[in-house]
Amino acid sequence: MSFGGRLSVLSWISFFLLQFTFTSLVASQVQLNPNNFFIPITIRSPYFNTWTGGNAPMNSWEMFWSKQTTAWLGHVRVDGQIFQFLGSWRLPTNITNLTNVAITPTRTIFSFQAGPMNLTATFLTPIEPEDPVKQSLPFSYLSFEAVSTDGAGHSVQVYTDISAEWMSANGSNIVNWNTTQTAGSKFHTVVQQTPHQYGETNNQADDVVAYYAAPVSPSLTSQTGFDTDCRGQFDSKGFLTNSVNQGSGVIANPWPVFAHSVDLGTITQTSSPVVWAMGIVRNPSIQYTTPDGQVQNRSPYFASQGNSIGEIIDSVVNDFSSASQRADALDKKILDAASSITSNPAYAGLVSLATRQAWGATDLTVSLGTDGKWNTSDVKMFMKDIGTSRRVNAVEILYASFPAFLYVNATYAGYLLAPLLESQDAPSYGKPYAGRDLGESYPLAPGNNEAHQQGVEQSGNMLIMTLAHARISGDGTLINRHYNMLKGWADYLVDNSLTPTNQLNADSERQANLTNLAIKGIVGIKAMSEISQALNMVNDSAHYDSIATSYANQWQILALSSDLSHIVADYGDDGSWTLAYNLFADRLLQTKLVSDNIYQLVTQYYKSLATSSFATPFGLPIDSTITTNLANSAWTMFTAAVTTDTVVRDSLINPIWAHASTNNNSTPFPLQYRLDNGVVTGQSSPAQGSMLAPLALTLPNTTITVPPPSSANAGNGNSGAASGSHHTSIVGPVVGGVVGGLALIFLIILGIFFWRRRSRYRFHTPGTYVNYDAPKPTAFPPDSQNDIYGGAERGSSTQVNEAGQLVMTASPTGQTAQPVTVVLSSKAREAMMRNSQAAALNRAQYSNSNVTSAPSSSYSGNSNGSSRDPPTEAPVSPETQGSFQTDVRGLRAEMESLRRAMLEIQVERMEAPPTYEG
Ligand SMILES: *[C@@H]1O[C@H](CO)[C@@H](O)[C@H](O)[C@H]1NC(C)=O
Ligand SMILES: *[C@@H]1O[C@H](CO)[C@@H](O)[C@H](O)[C@H]1NC(C)=O
Ligand SMILES: *[C@@H]1O[C@H](CO)[C@@H](O)[C@H](O)[C@H]1NC(C)=O
Ligand SMILES: *[C@@H]1O[C@H](CO)[C@@H](O)[C@H](O)[C@H]1NC(C)=O
Ligand SMILES: *[C@@H]1O[C@H](CO)[C@@H](O)[C@H](O)[C@H]1NC(C)=O
Ligand SMILES: *[C@@H]1O[C@H](CO)[C@@H](O)[C@H](O)[C@H]1NC(C)=O
Ligand SMILES: *[C@@H]1O[C@H](CO)[C@@H](O)[C@H](O)[C@H]1NC(C)=O
Repeated sequence: MSFGGRLSVLSWISFFLLQFTFTSLVASQVQLNPNNFFIPITIRSPYFNTWTGGNAPMNSWEMFWSKQTTAWLGHVRVDGQIFQFLGSWRLPTNITNLTNVAITPTRTIFSFQAGPMNLTATFLTPIEPEDPVKQSLPFSYLSFEAVSTDGAGHSVQVYTDISAEWMSANGSNIVNWNTTQTAGSKFHTVVQQTPHQYGETNNQADDVVAYYAAPVSPSLTSQTGFDTDCRGQFDSKGFLTNSVNQGSGVIANPWPVFAHSVDLGTITQTSSPVVWAMGIVRNPSIQYTTPDGQVQNRSPYFASQGNSIGEIIDSVVNDFSSASQRADALDKKILDAASSITSNPAYAGLVSLATRQAWGATDLTVSLGTDGKWNTSDVKMFMKDIGTSRRVNAVEILYASFPAFLYVNATYAGYLLAPLLESQDAPSYGKPYAGRDLGESYPLAPGNNEAHQQGVEQSGNMLIMTLAHARISGDGTLINRHYNMLKGWADYLVDNSLTPTNQLNADSERQANLTNLAIKGIVGIKAMSEISQALNMVNDSAHYDSIATSYANQWQILALSSDLSHIVADYGDDGSWTLAYNLFADRLLQTKLVSDNIYQLVTQYYKSLATSSFATPFGLPIDSTITTNLANSAWTMFTAAVTTDTVVRDSLINPIWAHASTNNNSTPFPLQYRLDNGVVTGQSSPAQGSMLAPLALTLPNTTITVPPPSSANAGNGNSGAASGSHHTSIVGPVVGGVVGGLALIFLIILGIFFWRRRSRYRFHTPGTYVNYDAPKPTAFPPDSQNDIYGGAERGSSTQVNEAGQLVMTASPTGQTAQPVTVVLSSKAREAMMRNSQAAALNRAQYSNSNVTSAPSSSYSGNSNGSSRDPPTEAPVSPETQGSFQTDVRGLRAEMESLRRAMLEIQVERMEAPPTYEG
């Protein structure tokens, strides 16, 4: 009885059409092929997260993301015949035919055939950005509609229940239950007899209260008790007993269930949907420790309204049709925006999967003041690192997820940052860099003062996110409140981000000089400049701006491969490449630190990778050096978002969808997957909020409004914000010139070239051209001269290999490249090192001298660290399309001269002549 056997391509097409004619309520939907999909049912909170795998929601149990059963059963009786449309209970029951599955950002919609009736079961996961009360209510809806297919009326009764498996993953735990009726609703309440506050078993919470509710009506009947009793009663009679209103038992075997059924009478179709509401509620939801050591048991925000659970459930049940309309509006907003980015349905599918996965990994909380009153100005949101760990507000995961919050409502981005910023803005934290998270055992958030090696990663993430929140929400409260700490982090980045060493990135890579990590830190410094600007701290702003600009200019030299075809994974590692996903931050914050040419260049390179041996049906690894052959959908999407060519962008997006929709991995939309053996992590990860990255880039700036200045402000010219130590000197980065001496010399030549080019592009001040008429270097094939983006001549380059050897590779006239290795003597290497150390010193001085002067003015005279004088000056012309290529040609001429010069030096100065291999 497999789905695939019953459903032809034709019927898929007809259902596809049906969706557009039939469900006019919803702007648009994304069709899923359930054969290939792990389908989200509801993702409303870290502990209210359920999916259906395989291909049969009507014949298999719903699962928590880590795959324990969380049963939600649906039976319908049509003319006395029983059909199962949700879950998997024992026969004799007929199974409905699944005819369509569609998703939107807030909904999963199943269509079934049950004999002469067509059925629709819709799971609505509300996302309620306009109202923190509603957002914090961990309730979700199931609604049911039916229509006769033969035009005749049929007698229809419908039944659903939830099991106690929602209460704990430990089936031997005991639960107590009862049933309450109010004016508007009837609901079952289930609690554990011995709840374990803040405890978890297999990722499921052990302190939840489950509610299963339905609106009161004459046709509603309810029952609690063993599955055999409740389901048996409905299947045989079509109604429930209403008798038992209290009970107790183990979770599993036998299984108690909590049921409601509605008798619709004889109908040709439902006039309005039959609705159930389920809540998986924890109160308090988070234990947070303030920096002064106060332990807060924080409640979901709705608790601040002081309503009884009966009132709350009435409001949830009565709100269904308004909630549906708000969900329609949000779905439409997101799907319209997605379709204006690309008509590629894969992208609409990805945002539909991702939005609730990000929002549904959070708890929105409020604290109780010492006066016993709710402190509704103290709103904090917590995010669980679902699928990977129990870390609380894991910063790199938050960074990945941020587009979903920025796009839907940036105020919530601030609620997520607030506890991280507060927790670390105290002497007890005591680190010069940002922390990794707020603790490692969600829902406990004691703060995390552990030293770690992700200083650049996390400080960069925090500065970028904090500015993004202020910019997009317009709320300057956080930047003002935590100004000095943010500045401290920026200073840390000044010291550590240009040439990051002894640092770990988000992907657990620890080699020195990771290009992607460096640019994150550099954008972080620029973010500090913008934060200062927003607070009118003009000196600080200029200070960080000049450093960020200088670093970015250097980065654009260091990060490029020597043939200028791509961004390497780590400086000087010419054969490597990386998905330069942190360029996303430059685009998001519009820092414009990185030239458009670089974006075009990486785009072309990813185009060439798509046909390389790195490419798999599930995309590219994070970089060429990652030993685990790991792909990361968030970083892939960040990269896609910054590409300059829609075809290349879609070639990055499609494999993410391919992976999400492939049954091979059979797991809830995971973040990371190995491209070789399929192993995944980050199932149902909030980091998938990254799927909205292209949408986040469309968000407009808002003027940042800063709260009235506090009395603490001192009178110095730079004190719009809180007082504190003012960092006025920069420790220039000590750029070690020891490794890759030859490469460094090469890079300095590149540097002259880029600095000139950039000063011309950016400042239109008198600059210099390299000599365009220099003889074309013979080492490059003629064809490649005009194709610097193509990556086709990646083999033509000069590199220093691990053994310190100069390797020159040329591929004349399309022949296979023949590397020539020059083995340098120790004396030659010494000479090279002296040269590069001089260059490094120069650069350090440059950084220092650059503090007070504009970047353009400090470039001149900074080239004498290289072994060549700058070429003759020429008049400036405006930026043109072709100038980059032209510059490169000139540069290549210089490179060729440099190579000759090097060989000459070696020949002249070596005691023993160099040996040649190849
Ligand atoms: C299942 O369907 C068959 C005919 O389609 C019917 O005879 C039988 O009674 C149904 N079983 C139940 C349990 O309703
Ligand atoms: C499912 O579809 C098959 C083929 O059309 C049909 O014979 C069967 O009765 C359907 N089952 C139900 C439950 O409607
Ligand atoms: C964003 O969220 C805040 C807090 O919930 C709310 O006051 C505001 O109205 C929301 N804005 C939008 C556009 O939803
Ligand atoms: C019922 O669903 C089928 C697809 O299985 C569709 O062709 C038909 O039009 C639907 N009938 C009604 C009345 O919606
Ligand atoms: C049902 O149980 C809950 C939890 O034990 C309790 O708070 C509530 O008062 C009970 N309601 C009824 C109607 O017994
Ligand atoms: C947004 O603000 C930044 C910094 O002030 C600025 O560089 C950028 O041009 C602005 N973007 C728009 C679209 O206004
Ligand atoms: C990092 O890069 C810089 C600049 O190229 C270089 O001087 C330094 O030696 C590199 N560090 C390591 C550990 O490779």
